[in-house]
Formats: sequence, C-alpha cells, structure tokens
Amino acid sequence: MRRVRRILVIGATGRIGREVVSRLGAAGVRVRALARNPEAAALGSDVEVVRGDLTRPGTLESCLDDTEAVFLVWAAPPAAVGPALERITARARRVVFLSSPHKTPHPFFQQPNPGRVLHAEIERRIEGSGCAWTFLRPGMFAANALAWWGPRIRAGADNVRWPFAAAPTAPIDERDVAAVAVRALTEEGRDRAEYVLTGPDSLSQSEQVAILGDAIGRPLRLVEIPPEEARTELAALFPPVVMTMLFDAWAAALGQPAYVTSTVADVTGAPARTFASWATDHAAAFRP
Ligand SMILES: NC(=O)c1ccc[n+]([C@@H]2O[C@H](COP(=O)([O-])OP(=O)(O)OC[C@H]3O[C@@H](n4cnc5c(N)ncnc54)[C@H](OP(=O)(O)O)[C@@H]3O)[C@@H](O)[C@H]2O)c1
Repeated sequence: MRRVRRILVIGATGRIGREVVSRLGAAGVRVRALARNPEAAALGSDVEVVRGDLTRPGTLESCLDDTEAVFLVWAAPPAAVGPALERITARARRVVFLSSPHKTPHPFFQQPNPGRVLHAEIERRIEGSGCAWTFLRPGMFAANALAWWGPRIRAGADNVRWPFAAAPTAPIDERDVAAVAVRALTEEGRDRAEYVLTGPDSLSQSEQVAILGDAIGRPLRLVEIPPEEARTELAALFPPVVMTMLFDAWAAALGQPAYVTSTVADVTGAPARTFASWATDHAAAFRP
C-alpha cells in the first residue's frame, strides 16, 4: 500500500462511503469524512468528520485542506457539478469516482436516463482536470433489496409485488465496491482504470426474492405485476424519473443473462460475494 497523506470521503454516511471510511481506517490510512450534518453521521468517535455540502462549493475548501485523494459519491443535484468538481479537482491529486456502467454495451445499461448523463458529465470533468483518476462502475447494488423489498417482508408478507420478475441483474455487495475503492485510493497502478463491477451471478428478480427467503428461513416469492400497476403501487418508493429509469432497464434486460465481470476478484484477489451471502449477512434487516 502507498503512503497516502489523507483521503477525503464524500458520501461518507451512505452505503458505499461508510464502508470505504471503515476500511481505510482499519488499514491505518488517515481518512476524513464529509457530511452535511456531522452530528448525525454516526461514523465512530475515531473518524474525523467535517461539515460540507456539494451544493455549497465554498464549504468544500476546508474539507479539502491537506487532502491527497478524494473518494467521490455524487448524490447531489446536477446543477452543483461544475462548481464542486472545480474545487475538488483543483485540490486533490487523485479522485476515485463512484459512477455506473454507462459505457457497457449491455441493454440493461444502455437505456437513456439522466443518471447516465450525470455520471458521464462528472467523469468528463474529472478526466479533463489533469488529476489522477479511477472510475468505479458498479451495476445494481445488493443493498437495494433493503429499501425495495425490506419493508413488506419485515411486515410479514410472504411475497413482494414487483414488475419484470424475469429481469436478471448481477447484484453486487457494497463491501466489494468499497474493497475496490480502497485499492484504487491507496495502490499505485490504478490510474485511468475504469472498473465495471458486478456480483458473480446473473439472477432474475424472482430468484433474488427466493434467495432472501432462504436467508430468513421463510419462503418468499415475487408476484409479478404489470408495469402500469407497479407505477401506482410503488409511487411512494421511487420518484417517477427513477421508476422510468428502472423499468426501462429491466425491460431491456429481459431475455439475456445479466452482464457479469470478474473485476472484483481481479482487483482485490477475493471472489465477489454472492447475493446469498449478502442476504445471510443482512437477514436481520428482513425479519420482523
Ligand atoms: N443503487 C444502485 O444500484 C447503484 C448502482 C450503481 C451506481 N449507483 C450510484 O451510487 C451512488 C449512491 O451511492 P450510495 O448508495 O452509497 O449513497 P447513499 O447511501 O444514497 O448515500 C448518499 C450519500 O451522499 C451524501 N450526500 C447527499 N447529498 C449531498 C450533498 N449535497 N453534499 C454532500 N454529500 C451529499 C449523503 O450524505 P449526508 O446526507 O450525510 O450529508 C450520503 O452520504 C449514486 O451516485 C448512484 O447513482 C447506485
């Protein structure tokens, strides 16, 4: 591992960023976590947490002091990209950006949507800045199951009502995304790498729900509903633009296996975790 002066994690309180902070800390790297509300960050008393907001670029300045590398998760509005990226790339020598597989020639990843445009735009700005960079392009997170299916399963239902039952994805464990991020942040030879990250198996949405059932010891099945019905039933879960993005991707994914890469194993030396192992480790979150 290279000696890195200090790494700033933006998105540190989220699913991937939290895991990156914890892994960098465990590896003895000086890590600083950015949060809009440090008091609520709950990252542990040994983590340096600083207040910052991507939509208020001035707040990034002191967060970037004495920082060599930045791990960037972008969850802010697109209008904030320009000013924030200007500050980040002016101060950091290396940026590892959590993107998505917008360049991967699989129908699931090729449907037009605002997320792809945003990620491509952020990548373009980082590439043009002269910083060293690595782009992580994970597919579907296994952790989506917590928000998507968790509430209904926790409430005791033996099914989830969902569209596109047969659509396959290769869900990736957030710990594997974080493990690759840590390599990219701390090792030489990762500059200009574009890592498309997936879980090890192509699994239909029905299969994923059944695997969750195995993990919690209660049979679960996915009951397919038509997309028009799902638009109403899932309105509280997804904003319309996200629903359209997901439905278009699932529809395009039907009829062929999900795109699967060996990148997690290639970069970390450990095989990508299966969805079954993710489900076992998160079973408590699906029990009443
Ligand atoms: N879900 C998927 O299947 C999937 C697949 C591929 C790529 N992705 C990408 O992954 C990213 C999301 O990662 P995640 O799931 O780890 O995130 P997450 O759990 O949704 O957390 C979002 C993080 O962004 C921070 N944040 C939000 N607005 C901010 C702002 N204005 N300034 C500074 N920080 C802000 C939040 O911090 P505070 O609220 O504490 O300030 C939080 O730490 C997105 O870019 C998404 O497109 C997702």
